[in-house]
This record gives sequence, C-alpha cells and structure tokens, in this order.
Amino acid sequence: MNKEEDIGLLTSNSNASPFDLVIFGGLGDLSQRKLIPALYHLDHDGRLASGNLFLVGRRPLSDQDVHKKIKLLLQDNIPDQESSDSLIDFERFIARFRYVQLDLNEEKDFLRLSAAMDCQQAHRIFYFATGSSLYKAICIGLKRAKIITTESKVVLEKPIGHDYQSAASINQAVAEYFEEKQIYRIDHYLGKETVQNLLALRFANSIFESLWSHKYIDHIQISIAESLGVEKRAGFYDKVGAMRDMLQNHLLQLLCITAMEPPSQLTADAVRDEKVKVLRALKPISGDLINEHIVRGQYDAGLTDGIPVPRYLDEENVAKSSVTETFTAAKVEIENWRWAGVPFYLRTGKRLAQRSCEIIVQFKEVPHSIFPSQKKETLANQLVFRLQPDEGIRLYLNEKRLGPGMQIQSTNLSLNPDAQSSGRVPEAYERLLADVILGNATLFLRDDELLEAWRWLDPILQDSTTSKEAPENYVAGSWGPVSAILLLQKDGRHWYNS
Ligand code: BG6
Repeated sequence: MNKEEDIGLLTSNSNASPFDLVIFGGLGDLSQRKLIPALYHLDHDGRLASGNLFLVGRRPLSDQDVHKKIKLLLQDNIPDQESSDSLIDFERFIARFRYVQLDLNEEKDFLRLSAAMDCQQAHRIFYFATGSSLYKAICIGLKRAKIITTESKVVLEKPIGHDYQSAASINQAVAEYFEEKQIYRIDHYLGKETVQNLLALRFANSIFESLWSHKYIDHIQISIAESLGVEKRAGFYDKVGAMRDMLQNHLLQLLCITAMEPPSQLTADAVRDEKVKVLRALKPISGDLINEHIVRGQYDAGLTDGIPVPRYLDEENVAKSSVTETFTAAKVEIENWRWAGVPFYLRTGKRLAQRSCEIIVQFKEVPHSIFPSQKKETLANQLVFRLQPDEGIRLYLNEKRLGPGMQIQSTNLSLNPDAQSSGRVPEAYERLLADVILGNATLFLRDDELLEAWRWLDPILQDSTTSKEAPENYVAGSWGPVSAILLLQKDGRHWYNS
C-alpha cells in the first residue's frame, strides 16, 4: 500500500466525499444502541457528508415506521440539550434514513436495495452488523445485484467466525468481492479515546519508552467488567460466550496496543504490522496449561445495584444445561525480549460488581527502600488507563506527606479528556465510523491479525474442559469466581478493582 492510500490516523478532520451507507442488521441491537446514535452525533457535528442512509432488515416495515423507531431510540440515547437544541436538525437527520426489507438469502431481494440506492454515488459503505455466518451471502447478493463499486468499503463486525477455520473461510469469502484495503474489521474498543491516548502517551513522550519493559514493569492487568447481564442478546451470547465475545477481540487488541513495539509511522499497515507481531509472540496455552492459566465463570443469582437478578441459566433463551462462560480470566505471556517474564492478566465478565474498563501497568517496587516503615504496596508506581465509565489516565507516584517526619503517601498525576473540551467525549463508534468514511484503517484489524488471534485462542476453545465442562459459578454483583482471585494470588499478586 503506498503512502497516499495509507492515510493513517492523521487526517480525521478532513472532509469526506458523499456516500451511501447501508447497514445490514439495521434494526438489530448494535444498530439501535450504537450505530444510529453515533451517526446522529456525526451528522449533528456536520461530519456526515450528504448521502443516503439505508437500514436493511427482514421485517416488513415502512420508512415511516422506521423513522418513528429511530426517533424513540434517539430520545432515549441523546442528551436532552442536544435534541431540543435543534429539533429541525433532529427531524432532518431521521428523514435521511430509508428502510429496505430484504431476506439475505434471497438474491433477488438485493435488487430492491440496488433500485433504492443512488446510482450516481460510487462511494458506498456496507456495514455488516449481522452474525458473521451471513457475510458471504451478503457479498454474493451485493455482487449479483451489481451494487459493489471500486470505491465501496465494507465494515465487518466482530466476532468474525467462531474459530480459526471459520474466520479464515469468512476472510476468504469476503476477499472474493472486496480488496483488503476496502475491508474494515471493527473492534470498537480501539475507537475509545483513551486507547488512542495510550498511543499518544507511549509514542509522543520519550520518558516511557525506557520504562516500558520487563526491566521496570512487574505485570499488566487489563479488565473489562460489565454490571449488565446478557440482556436481550442471550440467543447470540449463549453460542458465543465471553472468550469469543471479548477475549478474542477487545482484550487481545488492548494487549496489542499496550505491548507493541513503536511503529515507524502512524499508518494502518505500520501499526498493524506491530500488533500482529505481538499476537504471534503470545505463548501458546494448551493441555495442562489451560487449567493453570485460564478461568471460566458463569453468573449465579445475586444483586446488581441492589436489585436481585437471576442466574445466567434462568435468563430468557438460555438452555438450563448451558456451559457458556459469562466470565473469563487469563494469564497471558508474550515471548519476546521486551516482555519476558511479565504476565498480562486479562479478565472480563458480565454481572460483575460494576462497569469499568482499565489497563493497569504495575511497575516494580524500588530495588531498595530507604523508607522501611512504609507498606510495600504504596511504593510501587502504577500507570492506569481508564476507558470507562469515565475516561482518563493516572500515574500513581509517591510523595512526602506535608509536615514533620518522613511519611510517604501515594498521589497521582491525571490526564482527563473531559478537561480538554467543554463538550462530551465522542463515543468509540463515532470515531470509527468517521474513520471508515475517510478511509483511515489504522484502528481496524487486518486479515492476518484476526487469524493470529484465533490461532492463539483455538486450542483453549477446543479443549474439553473449555467446551464441555460447566464453568465455575460466581455471585452476580461480585468480581467473578474464586479461581480468578487465585490466578493472581498464586503469583503473589492481586486484582485492582476500581
Ligand atoms: C461488545 C460485546 O463487543 O462489547 C458485548 O459483544 C459487550 O457483549 C460490549 O457488552 C461492551 O462494550 P462497551 O463499549 O459497552 O464496554
């Protein structure tokens, strides 16, 4: 890819040419909760160039029905001041949507989409927000109806496939219709402001590079905790589980961004080359190591925000015998010079004590303390990247407590994106949709990255303990199963629960 094509992250404020956007799974959960609100914000900020927005779904609905639905969901999702600010704007945005009823397995139905689309518009974006087993059928339908142009782009939602083999065949199927540079494999965690700030902090400051290795770092924790359960997505989730839903993608991507070598430039291929090297260096986990390094849990009944919630097995659309994990923790090692001996502890789960996502870089203690009366823990520095609920970065340092004697206390220096702007911090999907429109692929996965992540996870998923045995229970509203605590305890460490 030459430099003009690989425009990287640097051009996010430039204007895009007009385009048509088609969302398959247009009335699904993702589209309603994330994509349509993100499009609204882009439109509101004048960053959604003119063009039509199509929602594709199976149900027979009119444009008016769909406009009503969008209005309701925006009223639920958009802060009051923004919608009342410009009611006309709101109505104008909603009117941009057109609904196309289409059965993805009926090729002739795609002719309806082609008839609805503006034949002058060569810049077309197809967003596949359906299960990935349908991606091939959508590509075939688009091709036969002659909807794909050379300027088209396709966005693929995760999880792509359910293992290495299925992901490889989906990659192959899509590659028959789109070139790799037209394909945007989305992982919305990469669109979070703090993840990009992590890149800035690591590569725009010289002070961290010399500290960023086994010489000074004891271990790294990456946690994505959710307080919600499976909600209305159990039909999907029960086939997938936490490892495929979160570990294979979000957690491994955060690990890559934290651990990768400095890319030579901020372009898509330079960044992705470095991430893929990290994935290739992951120590394989299989056989006996699975029990030592991997924890699986499933939530039991408990309390969320003080309200009783049912166990996973009693959720609607979950089989009573389901062995799907709603929690996973893993001790991951990277076999290279920089990270030799530094464990990365990853964990994610539903119905945990609170919603939070943090990357915690735990530095080693000072080699020799001249403050013997201090508790060791307060002395080890920590750099915390907080992705949610609020975004920000904190560096924990030690200082002298004001007053007589020599008391040491922990304090922190913090960077907070809210402080930089008077408005809200943009949602990840806004950033990523804007990048697709502009052709910035830096925050999207390349085909080889996707496959390397599956290559590492496959032996864990295929092992009978993972695929057949019931996961360990944990009480809803807790921090996960006891084994997750033991995973760190046996290494003389503990989780930091914020
Ligand atoms: C999605 C998963 O990718 O990420 C969901 O499929 C999960 O199960 C969601 O709830 C979490 O995203 P966020 O941005 O709300 O933390």
